[in-house]
Amino acid sequence: MKSIGILTSGGDCPGLNAAIRGVGKAAIEEFEMSVIGFRDGFRGLTQDRILRVGGEQLAGILTDGGTILGTSRDKPHKMPIGDRTEDMTAAAVDTYKKHALDALVCIGGGGTQKNAMRMAEAGLNVITLPKTIDNDIFGTDTSFGFDTALQIATEAIDRLHSTATSHHRIIVVETMGHRAGWLALGAGIAGGADAILIPEIPYSVEAVAAAIRERARRGRRFSIVAVAEGAMTDKEAKTIEKLALQKKDADSKKERKEASAQLAEFHENHVGNTLKLTKQLEELTGIESRLTILGHLQRGGTPSAADRILATRLGTACAELLHNGTFGVMVAARGDGSEAVSLSEIAGQKKLVTEDHPWVRTAELTGVCLGRS
Ligand code: F6P
Repeated sequence: MKSIGILTSGGDCPGLNAAIRGVGKAAIEEFEMSVIGFRDGFRGLTQDRILRVGGEQLAGILTDGGTILGTSRDKPHKMPIGDRTEDMTAAAVDTYKKHALDALVCIGGGGTQKNAMRMAEAGLNVITLPKTIDNDIFGTDTSFGFDTALQIATEAIDRLHSTATSHHRIIVVETMGHRAGWLALGAGIAGGADAILIPEIPYSVEAVAAAIRERARRGRRFSIVAVAEGAMTDKEAKTIEKLALQKKDADSKKERKEASAQLAEFHENHVGNTLKLTKQLEELTGIESRLTILGHLQRGGTPSAADRILATRLGTACAELLHNGTFGVMVAARGDGSEAVSLSEIAGQKKLVTEDHPWVRTAELTGVCLGRS
């Protein structure tokens, strides 16, 4: 009988329980494997904190948000211990060996793919599933969590429309998405936003204000501006480009580390800087403006039908791959099916919105301002 371990890592999202159930049901009932879960992501793996997973644990979880296993953003090779970090890779390997596991399933986003790759390099049989509301995992058509978050953000924009119209206001609505614009772009199109600002297309506040003033001139005295938390102005984009170049051209490891830290700090500080944008728009247009930050609402609650199906089909495909002895891969969504893609091909990369993506053109052809100067 094969034994597998399973963990969820990174930010939670709707569909994680559906994925655990998909892997678990197929592994236990179809392929007669035994399954243990590790609590709170890689931290639980390094500390050997487990949950035995059987029919009882899997019952009734398909529709639940969050993860029955708990999650954390902890990395095995940089585990926070008090006020420092320690490489706990060896402890993770020990736990795997102690339970005589044949494989470890890691369900997570971009960071998890990298950490899973590290575990594979440390000798574990690893297989991953792509989850994130950001939709930025490289190598997969999409990831579960995204559809639900998109629906929540769209509903929010729908509701903001009536209050924006009644008060003749600008409402800036900030979506999550980290450094990717999928959520803002998708919800902006679906919700009929008048401007959509995403990290991949730097914006000029003046261009957005001009578009809003033009709407007002035509009698449309309200505007909805959907902004990804990572959206940046032309000026910010130039600073990031400069810092990225410094990192790339660094002569020594020390210089690269410094440039990398500066870059991360800059990203960190400018993410979520939409209050400034809201105030600037009010000043430049003379139209009263309000900001709504959707935040973690986008990650909570029951998964959409599409996410339940996606998580279940990728989870069951994962169990089949485990049964066949395929490891070192992510189970990617490909059309209505799935494909095993090598972790080495995808780890460390991000799927961002491209300038020529059909959603970008769609937005432009429906008159949405993308803030280009
Ligand atoms: O990656 C998912 C995500 O929700 C991002 O969109 C967001 O930037 C981040 O996680 C927030 O992380 P946390 O929940 O740790 O604040």
